[in-house]
Amino acid sequence: DAELLADPVDKIRAVGGTRHPSIPLPIDLFGVRRNSAGLDLQDRTVLAEVAAVVAKTPAPRTDAVPAGRGGTETSAKAAVDRAVRGFAVWSRTPLEQRAATLERLADLLETHRGDLMAVAVQEAGKTIGDALGEVREAVDFCRYYALQARGVLAPQELPGPTGERNVLRHEGRGVWACIAPWNFPLAIFLGQVAAALVAGNAVVAKPAPQTPAIAGWAVALAHEAGVPADALVLLPGGPEEGAALIADVRVAGVAFTGSTGTARRIARGLLEDDARPLVPLIAETGGINAMIVDSTALPEQVVADVVASAFRSAGQRCSALRLLLLQEEIAERTLEMLAGAMDTLVIGDPADPATDVGPVIDQASYDRLMARRAAMAARTVHTVQVPADGLYVPPTVIRIDTIEQLTEEWFGPVIHVATWKAGALAETVERVNAGRFGLTMGLHSRIARGAETVEALAKVGNLYVNRSMIGAIVGSQPFGGEGLSGTGPKAGGPHYLPRFSAERVTSTDT
Ligand code: NAD
Ligand code: ALA
Repeated sequence: DAELLADPVDKIRAVGGTRHPSIPLPIDLFGVRRNSAGLDLQDRTVLAEVAAVVAKTPAPRTDAVPAGRGGTETSAKAAVDRAVRGFAVWSRTPLEQRAATLERLADLLETHRGDLMAVAVQEAGKTIGDALGEVREAVDFCRYYALQARGVLAPQELPGPTGERNVLRHEGRGVWACIAPWNFPLAIFLGQVAAALVAGNAVVAKPAPQTPAIAGWAVALAHEAGVPADALVLLPGGPEEGAALIADVRVAGVAFTGSTGTARRIARGLLEDDARPLVPLIAETGGINAMIVDSTALPEQVVADVVASAFRSAGQRCSALRLLLLQEEIAERTLEMLAGAMDTLVIGDPADPATDVGPVIDQASYDRLMARRAAMAARTVHTVQVPADGLYVPPTVIRIDTIEQLTEEWFGPVIHVATWKAGALAETVERVNAGRFGLTMGLHSRIARGAETVEALAKVGNLYVNRSMIGAIVGSQPFGGEGLSGTGPKAGGPHYLPRFSAERVTSTDT
């Protein structure tokens, strides 16, 4: 079984060193020039190198925003007051200057990678590999949006059929509220902020209450890169501060990533006041993500991809596998092999480069997952030992009889498994669709027709065929769902930035 887990590492080595197609500069982390795909994140040599840098980084403050660097406000009103002033300046800053500022921010993120990763490990319990992925994705977002902005946000001459001159411009809308989750406390937090800023908006950024320190670092570095302090204001806090921010009628747009329930509350909040302008809401939420496996799939690859998709990051990715759907004929053998692979997982201290699975984010999350697991104990197919001290939820596989029995996202290293009968592939996809989440889906099959069927029917934002379902790459795999999983447009994709801007057309008779 150790052999099985070694397979993806070989794949990773094979691709290391290629350049990301959409990003002009290769990322230089720790002297290892690799692509930004994050595919080398399991490479033990790289992880050891990264861990050494993290260990050498003086303990960063995780209790608060770094002293003197933050630019924070503690009330939503004060934060919006400041951002309104910031918008007056930043919205007149030329597009090229805004894009170049994001590139300087990317450089600063790379310079401060040790600090940022150390905070990610200490504050969010990220493993070394995940912490590295976090910095790389944040860098990717900044460079990609800078590149995109120069194209899609530049003024465009349109045809003038009666001889007039028509020019389409993209301009900032005003103050955006960017509200982020704790599970990508740097990458998603900064991705939203970078997009809003480069489109000419001012931003009030509210991180998750579990991860204020890394957000403080990100904002401080953005200011150092040249974003005026009033154009990017940090508002630490939880649901209360988030709700107060949404309630401020001066907020001209909202970029939110988090749970579906919170997205609904925000949507309602934006419509409460009849006098308020209608404003865009970009909401990226959760999913009950299925992986469908047929009898032609390569068992070793399936097992490696299930382990990565379900248990890496302690299952705390919105993209993570939640529902494994095995064709009946291969179910028992696959589960047996999966159990073997789970037994080899290293679970424990996230700062140890050998660790595969770290802790979950907080006591509340731990308690919720453990209680749900306990309630399903009689249906447990396999689980593994974890260290007694710490918020370690044992990776677990639970059997259910029908797809419909799983109705909620379990945000941790626990998957549910059900079977389907030969000939029922299309019906299986339709039943997953009926759950109305639509974030990621995986398919393992060596029959082209199977992939075509799933591609034609699946109502998901990101479909992964014969590979893992996590780790979407900025610029190559624009990420985001539909239905209960989000509104789009996709983060890290070509249509994201225009949603942040006001489109204005001037027609002049010549
Ligand atoms: P959450 O919804 O509890 O909180 C997200 C953010 O919203 C936090 O900053 C929180 O303080 C804020 N918030 C809470 N109530 C609010 C309100 N009434 N008004 C305004 N803001 C409010 O989610 P979480 O637990 O931080 O994150 C986990 C969830 O995020 C999971 O469901 C996961 O699937 C989802 N997620 C989705 C994506 C994606 O791209 N689709 C990415 C990461 C996480
Ligand atoms: N973008 C993250 C992933 O694909 C959520 O895993």
